[in-house]
Amino acid sequence: MQNVPLIDPFARPITYLRLSVTDRCDFRCTYCMSEAMQFLPRADLLTLEELDRLSSAFIDLGVRKLRITGGEPLVRKGIMTLFQSLSRHLDSGALEDLTLTTNGSQLARYAGDLAACGIRRVNVSLDTLDPEKFAAITRWGKLAPVLDGIAAAKTAGMRVKINAVALKGVNEDELHALTDWCAAQGHDLTFIEVMPMGEDMGDALRLGQYWPLTDVRARLAAHYGMTDLPLRTGGPARYVRLNATGQQIGFITPLTHNFCESCNRVRATCTGQLYMCLGQNDMADLRAPLRASADNAALTAAIRAAIARKPKGHDFDYSRAAAPAGNVTGKVSGQMPRHMSHTGG
Ligand code: 5AD
Ligand code: SF4
Repeated sequence: MQNVPLIDPFARPITYLRLSVTDRCDFRCTYCMSEAMQFLPRADLLTLEELDRLSSAFIDLGVRKLRITGGEPLVRKGIMTLFQSLSRHLDSGALEDLTLTTNGSQLARYAGDLAACGIRRVNVSLDTLDPEKFAAITRWGKLAPVLDGIAAAKTAGMRVKINAVALKGVNEDELHALTDWCAAQGHDLTFIEVMPMGEDMGDALRLGQYWPLTDVRARLAAHYGMTDLPLRTGGPARYVRLNATGQQIGFITPLTHNFCESCNRVRATCTGQLYMCLGQNDMADLRAPLRASADNAALTAAIRAAIARKPKGHDFDYSRAAAPAGNVTGKVSGQMPRHMSHTGG
């Protein structure tokens, strides 16, 4: 039983775990967090040892790709010991890919150590190259250390993918600058459509910053020329090649495209809650079985039971909500009440 791989009710093999190691962050991006975020009591968090056990149980069940997320994963105290211990699964060949998504603020410090753990790729969230805009979007962030971190990751030999949230009236005028910078630096680039997460739907949506990627795409196609790529990663991203620069660009459009049929992933929070779908509220508590005993029987059973409930698809739908631009109260249907920092994007 232990080694039968995880297959959900819709015959999708679950091979990808996204694991949030903290809900905290040193930034307060307007579309992600409120300024006065309430964070979880530290006692509720899984310990680094428990995070390792949880990850390893999934790897035993056939997970081949593990992404460490947050909040900001690199602000978790002692986080490098988790990467170091997880790297044994890369060495054994059980795990193909160990990666992380980071805001880059601590990357200059950790890039060398991460590369030494076998991490070959890192996703860095960066929406603008303008220091003032960066400060406005992140509220607490500074651009220069992030650019230093990205450079350090490249120097350490890791591939960098820039994730940029498309924000109308904010980074709209930087579309070419950001694209050209990534081309010059050799970074991959993916645009993300702003998603309705969090009780207040995020300041970005309240402020009418929803910028559909259909428009981003059309503008890039007009300027650079564009060829669709068949590449699929089991997630919401679609890829194209820009003819003028040769670079690959991704688009993550959870609201305008249906990608659920190929979903291969689940998300675990830093408290051990397993979300089977980013766009659904159903979750399974894995902390109790994890803490109930030192062997993995109860944990494995809980994981299997959860995967057996993985839903067919998500439920994001702006059309069931009031117009995003005008809605100030935020209480709308078709949105997720949890913040992105809770499930790690
Ligand atoms: N919509 C889209 N992307 C978001 N992120 C955080 N909140 C949102 C949102 N509401 C992104 C960050 C980062 C990743 C962790 O999630 O920019 O790239
Ligand atoms: Fe932090 Fe990322 Fe959320 Fe910004 S988007 S507040 S960097 S977790």
